[in-house]
This record gives sequence, C-alpha cells and structure tokens, in this order.
Amino acid sequence: MDQLIIANWKSNKNFTEIEAWLNDFAPTIKTEQEVIIAPPYPFLKLVADKAQQATNLSLAVQDLSPFPAGSYTGAVSVQNLEGLQVKYAILGHSERRRYFAETHQDVAKKVDQALANGIQPIVCLDTDYLADQAAALPEKQLEKCIVAYEPLAAIGSGHNTKPKEVEKVVERVRIVFGQVPVLYGGSVDPSNVADYRSVVDGVLVGGASLKAKVFAQLIERA
Ligand code: PGA
Repeated sequence: MDQLIIANWKSNKNFTEIEAWLNDFAPTIKTEQEVIIAPPYPFLKLVADKAQQATNLSLAVQDLSPFPAGSYTGAVSVQNLEGLQVKYAILGHSERRRYFAETHQDVAKKVDQALANGIQPIVCLDTDYLADQAAALPEKQLEKCIVAYEPLAAIGSGHNTKPKEVEKVVERVRIVFGQVPVLYGGSVDPSNVADYRSVVDGVLVGGASLKAKVFAQLIERA
C-alpha cells in the first residue's frame, strides 16, 4: 500500500488563503506516496480541481453526516459529495468527539454511510476507547477501515508520541480490527516524519500542513 500523508486543515483558512496555498504547493510526491488534503467543506471543489491536475493527490472530508440525504439542516451527506472525487472521510476525530459530543455509535453510522457510498473511512482513535469504538462497528466493517491512532496528548501539543510506543498500538489495533492500514497523527512535522516510516502506513498532519512549503518539506522527508 502507498504511504498516506494527510493534511487536515480543520477549521482553518479562507478562500484566498487556500488559493495561495494551492499555488505554493509544489512537492515532489514519490510514486509510493499518496497525499490527501482534507479542507473545510466550502473549499472541496477548489482542492478537487488541483487534485485532478496532480498525480497521487486526493481529497478527504473531515466529517460526514450520519444520515443519508434528507431533511437534516446543516449536515453534509455522502450524496452532497457526489461528483467531487472525495476518496476518504476522516471520522471520529477527537475534536469531533470532544466539541461536538460525537459518540462511538455516531461514528459507526458515519462509517456505514461512507462505506455504502464508496468513500474510504479513516477512523480516528486513542487507546482508551479503541476497543469500545471497534465494538460499535459491525464486525464485517472493521477490516474495511483505515485506523488513525491519534493520542490526545500529542495532538497540537508539539509532543509527538515516540515511534516505539506507536508500534505497540499498531499491534493492538490489528488485533481488534484485522490487517488494516494504520496511520499515526499527533505533532508530526518535517523533523520527525521519517521516524514513522517503518512503523505505520502513513501520517495525519494538522499544524504542519497549514503552510504549503512546510507540508511539501514533510512529504519530501516522509
Ligand atoms: P497536529 O494535529 O498535527 O496539529 O498535532 C493532528 C490531528 O489532529 O490530526
């Protein structure tokens, strides 16, 4: 499998800033890498157009509605995304769980929506609820997920979890989910990204993806 490198912009950036980022973004993406950008919803089309021109660049959403299309004001359903070439959905990020009270069951509904509509779910987890989140998912869906191990204390803190520690969690994830791709997220930057190369199948990057040049450097060193 290709090494996945995901830029999660969270709720940062406006239209002008994203246009500038896309103009500045000129990394050397190696053939065995896939770079994925997860912009805020309003900018999906802008990034989709860039992704179409570039090799190995694809698009993710940061969340999904747990419901199909219908009367769910404010929610973005999988149907809304048709035609935008969205390949991945980041689901159950700790910030969704914390600030939007998302439960394991909510995440399970979103995984179901994604899988039923050809979007690959990336389920974010920390160790203390790994088993509970897995238990909320139908067994046959576990192996269809990509899992992102995102230790709470490492996110946005500058204190990345050491690769040796991550390695142990990868084993635990695979015991529960099966032979799924596992990513690591939490203060990954150009100075430490290479340390994870042999440990995980990719990285989920927040802060260090916000500047195009820093993110390009991270990709080159990954
Ligand atoms: P960070 O965020 O790289 O800023 O720590 C990672 C994440 O929240 O996915």
